[in-house]
Amino acid sequence: MKLTAQQLEQFDREGYLFLPNLFSPEEAAFLKNEAEAIYQMDRKEVWREKSGVARTAFAAHTYNEGFRRLGAHPRLIEPVEQLLDGKVYMHQYKVNAKAPFDGAVWQWHQDYGTWKRDDEMPEPRAMNISVFLDDVTAANGPLLFIPGSHKQGVVKAGHDLETTSYPLWTLDRETVTELAEQGGCVAPTGPAGSVLLFSSLLVHASPPNISPFGRTIVYLSLCETSNHIRAFNREEWIAHRDFTPIEALEDDCLQQLLSEPA
Ligand code: SIN
Ligand code: MN
Repeated sequence: MKLTAQQLEQFDREGYLFLPNLFSPEEAAFLKNEAEAIYQMDRKEVWREKSGVARTAFAAHTYNEGFRRLGAHPRLIEPVEQLLDGKVYMHQYKVNAKAPFDGAVWQWHQDYGTWKRDDEMPEPRAMNISVFLDDVTAANGPLLFIPGSHKQGVVKAGHDLETTSYPLWTLDRETVTELAEQGGCVAPTGPAGSVLLFSSLLVHASPPNISPFGRTIVYLSLCETSNHIRAFNREEWIAHRDFTPIEALEDDCLQQLLSEPA
């Protein structure tokens, strides 16, 4: 799947692209079921909110067949190869739950801020591509973006070890206010199966989910292979050390799994 010249221009200007309904309702529902089963597991890769509900499952592509296939899906890998101009490897893989009532905040941050400071990734030649496994609405804790903020480079940040169960380099309110005065703030929403690509420099956050509806989103963080991380400070299932280029699977790879007898 190739992005058009207009989509490339929009990504460059805004720092993100929204692709509604890229996966079918059946593909999304299958993966949502798999995510629920993973959240029930007692594994080191499943991190929980302070209340105990699942917050994120790291590295699900290494222990679940559906998520393995999604991690090499041509609808995701090919646009990212195009944007990063080269082969890519998986730097991080998360299935974020944002659970009903209890899904907690993700404070304002840039992903590359963490990848540079913690993992010594040389350049921001890496990005996120995410797949909605639930309908994402204004009500259930959507991602918030500051359009154009990826043009600012790495902005100053502090290491937040308190707010949630997951440590993150976060921006102060003054910086967020200044950036939002220029770029505004948007919350791309849409049905399960939709895809959101965003620059690793784009400033983003998400509010708590007080609604009774879950908001499961899978994030593939892909890095151009020569730009691999240089420091191994974090667990290998959080910041991966396998820099093998991903070879995209066939477009029907999930469909095949769905039609296999249970
Ligand atoms: C992230 O920024 O890495 C996750 C945010 C979210 O899932 O809401
Ligand atoms: Mn992030």
